[in-house]
Amino acid sequence: MTVHQHALKTDSLAYALLGAAYAVALVRKGTALPQALAQTFARFDPPAPARGAIQDIAYRTMRRWGQANALLTLLTQKPPEPPLLHALLSCALSLIVDADEAAYETFTVVNQAVTAVAADSDIAHAKGMVNAVLRRFLRERNELLRQTAENPEAVWNYPRWWIDAIKTAYPREWQSILQAGNAAPPLTLRINRRSLSVDDYLHKLSENAMPGVQIGPDAVRLDQPVPVHRIPGFDQGLVSVQDAAAQLAAPLLDVHDGMRVLDACAAPGGKTGHLLELADVDLTALDHDPQRLVRVEQNLQRLKLQATLKVGDAGSDNWWDGKHFDRILADVPCTASGIVRRHPDIRWLRRKGDAAQLATLSRQILDNLWRMLRPDGKLLFVTCSLWPQESEAQAAAFAVRHQAIRLFAPGQLLPKAEAGVDHDGLFYALFHKPAN
Ligand SMILES: C[S@@+](CC[C@H](N)C(=O)[O-])C[C@H]1O[C@@H](n2cnc3c(N)ncnc32)[C@H](O)[C@@H]1O
Repeated sequence: MTVHQHALKTDSLAYALLGAAYAVALVRKGTALPQALAQTFARFDPPAPARGAIQDIAYRTMRRWGQANALLTLLTQKPPEPPLLHALLSCALSLIVDADEAAYETFTVVNQAVTAVAADSDIAHAKGMVNAVLRRFLRERNELLRQTAENPEAVWNYPRWWIDAIKTAYPREWQSILQAGNAAPPLTLRINRRSLSVDDYLHKLSENAMPGVQIGPDAVRLDQPVPVHRIPGFDQGLVSVQDAAAQLAAPLLDVHDGMRVLDACAAPGGKTGHLLELADVDLTALDHDPQRLVRVEQNLQRLKLQATLKVGDAGSDNWWDGKHFDRILADVPCTASGIVRRHPDIRWLRRKGDAAQLATLSRQILDNLWRMLRPDGKLLFVTCSLWPQESEAQAAAFAVRHQAIRLFAPGQLLPKAEAGVDHDGLFYALFHKPAN
């Protein structure tokens, strides 16, 4: 992308469309959207409001990518080249495809998309084509949408293999699962019980004219998402941002003062902080990624809580001092198929075989951690996946392999976005090690 930066005003939709297209073109090459946006921002250094607009358009595009790509196939004779041009058309179509949800006037989007193309010398030649394609979409919208209605990728905005796998695993709920993954995610907070009650915090929110509603024992959902530093009490550690389903982990592990606890895949430390809010435990937070472990440290500093942070592989014991743990949290790496509403790019980047590969890795982690648990101790196995191979099948095989006793835990939680129930799709299995 060779933008003549002076050619576009940074507060224009054209500038945001071009920035979003740059990020979307990187996703098409296999880069995760957060990294793609970071690269885009590093390169063009947009002011804060433009960053927000670029991010918003790129995320919307990921949620409409199946539909946008199907429309582009109908509207063009061959895939538009270079990739930036394809991405720009996808972004523009994603903004106008749902007439009811339109964030911008359709003709503004068309005009601004043409302005954006003209400002980049790599794609400026296609100005006329972009104008023609988008205007044809507006003219023939109903007929084009009727044609894409035959194509499941366009209807659901997921790759075909993903739709088929969800149908197979959840023959009754598959449609609501796919729909939940296309909703904009809520901003859910965990109230730090050490500091104040949920009622006190709801009162504080209303004083700040920021309405919210309780959706879990410590969970409050804000009616309108805001940047974290504008959340009352966030910088002071009164609250943390955490999905309502993820907030079930720490209470399930049943921690008490004085226990030795291992959080084996800890970063960025959402569950670490919650465990420390519930009891005065001697907690080791382990993660194999030193950069991600820094985020655990920052989170704990904000909450004014302490843990021993270690860089290490949960699948090996070269970091372990040989002393057993009373409780272990194994929030293992997974495909993240249960949190696609927060990461809508995941569905386009994952491959069908990823679940099997990750299940092999997490099996090794679980087997290794089990040795580190004292008899009569408890291990909580967590994934944010919907694939049974990574979750229920893994848990069932683990229980048999180790004669572990399975205690009550919710199992597979399907993603839900309803009035009082609003959470991601997580899996929980709790194991008790026999006392001999
Ligand atoms: C699902 S995330 C954990 C989220 C975290 N528990 C929370 O609540 O904020 C999984 C984490 O596991 C880490 N990880 C992946 N493989 C690992 C391994 N072999 N050993 C330790 N950590 C690992 C990743 O770096 C990532 O931070």
